[in-house]
Amino acid sequence: MRIGLLTSGGDCPGLNAVIRSSVLHGIKSYGDEFVGFKGGWRGVIEGDYIDLPRQSVRGLSREGGTILGTSRTHPYNHPQGGPENMAKQLKRHDIDAVIAIGGEGTLAGAKRLADDGIPVVGVPKTIDNDLKATDYTFGFDTAISIATDAMDRLRTTGESHHRCMVAEVMGRHVGWIALHSGMAAGAHAILIPEHRISMDQVCEWVEQVHSRGRSPLVVVAEGFIPEDAEEALAGKGEEEDGRPRLGGIGDWVTRQIEAKTGIESRNTTLGHIQRGGNPTGYDRVLATRFGIRALDLVHERAWGHMAALRGTEIVKVDLAEALDGLKAVPAERYDEAQILFGR
Ligand code: F6P
Repeated sequence: MRIGLLTSGGDCPGLNAVIRSSVLHGIKSYGDEFVGFKGGWRGVIEGDYIDLPRQSVRGLSREGGTILGTSRTHPYNHPQGGPENMAKQLKRHDIDAVIAIGGEGTLAGAKRLADDGIPVVGVPKTIDNDLKATDYTFGFDTAISIATDAMDRLRTTGESHHRCMVAEVMGRHVGWIALHSGMAAGAHAILIPEHRISMDQVCEWVEQVHSRGRSPLVVVAEGFIPEDAEEALAGKGEEEDGRPRLGGIGDWVTRQIEAKTGIESRNTTLGHIQRGGNPTGYDRVLATRFGIRALDLVHERAWGHMAALRGTEIVKVDLAEALDGLKAVPAERYDEAQILFGR
């Protein structure tokens, strides 16, 4: 078969490892040929691609980013988008199937295209870990490792100055990154979108820690909604697809803590650093396994399905299952973490 790969949506460490394993598996096991569409769905719509021979993927599993580039182009909203044009482009370039590697938006596009007759399978990626039907997505572990390292550093400078340190992390509308990196760094409070909490309670935890002569660390997810607010703070305009661009809550939380407790406080927003650089060993392995399974899905003609992690197994799931709402942090996971807040 001649197969096209694409990476779409926000980038994520591990994308290149998927590309590598699909290409190597396909060439070796099935005699496939590969192309890589440039800039996500835009590459399919415009027929813009590069050939991906075996040597093009050499050494790729350790590289961050994506060699194909990415975009947030929606397959149906582009002026030349839609299944008819896509089918024409695939036919013109002799491409038998597409492997779409992406998050919620990308996979929703893939599902709709598969329903409209385009031969496409998916691979779930996102540092946010918010996709249903898979226990983990690659990129998440790398983001946790980067955020934890940053928080360890914040704690040493915080301790020197006896300050309260606030770290704002990504994650969109779920708190997985905040929960895991906060627990790993021993944070004294973790604020996530799934759980409303008053600033008075946060300040109580901060004061408990400060009064013991320690430097409190507060981790806040970018999508955290303060108790009296309607929605997350999104003072940075909108994404191309109209979604609010999150960020800024760390500054707000810091100012609140300082005003309510009088404790000198500083905010650090980790931002895109969480998505950059090389993937961890865990993410390389997960991404490699997803790439292998996705290629098998193509040969099974399992259009509209994706590779997913269940326990330690890589399984086939319907894209509809992955897109059935966001995978939020369960209340019991937050309650468990909360036992150590202020301690
Ligand atoms: O979905 C991944 C993510 O990094 C989110 O955590 C964050 O809100 C968003 O992407 C940022 O997107 P962009 O790279 O377009 O600024």
